Amino acid sequence: MIGRLNHVAIAVRDLGKATAVYRDILGANVSAAVPQPDHGVTTVFITLPNTKIELLEPLGEGSPIAKFLERNPDGGMHHICYEVDDIRAARDALKSAGARVLGDGEPKTGAHGKPVLFLHPKDFSGTLVELEQA
Ligand code: CO
Repeated sequence: MIGRLNHVAIAVRDLGKATAVYRDILGANVSAAVPQPDHGVTTVFITLPNTKIELLEPLGEGSPIAKFLERNPDGGMHHICYEVDDIRAARDALKSAGARVLGDGEPKTGAHGKPVLFLHPKDFSGTLVELEQA
């Protein structure tokens, strides 16, 4: 079921500062910042040879990463995103195996315009898992 590692997401307080570290110190290829009002975050994608890093900064009131940043004031790894060939089939298989799907269980359009779902960290060794349709 599980496919490629699509990205690792890091929550940050200051997107400009975090982006500059990747661009100017690490020499990475960074995207422009893109506000994602539907998801309550602004994102920057960093393209590495084998995967991507997604930097997330809170956007607006009630951002889903606000509480995470309260607990992790320096920022930190927020989630990991795996690709699956068929997101609904993956969801159904995971649910029947007892994994908890967050929200209403219906895929939403993610930062790349593809369907995504999130899985409860308690079922995946304390790591929030995003599934993205490949
Ligand atoms: Co993500």
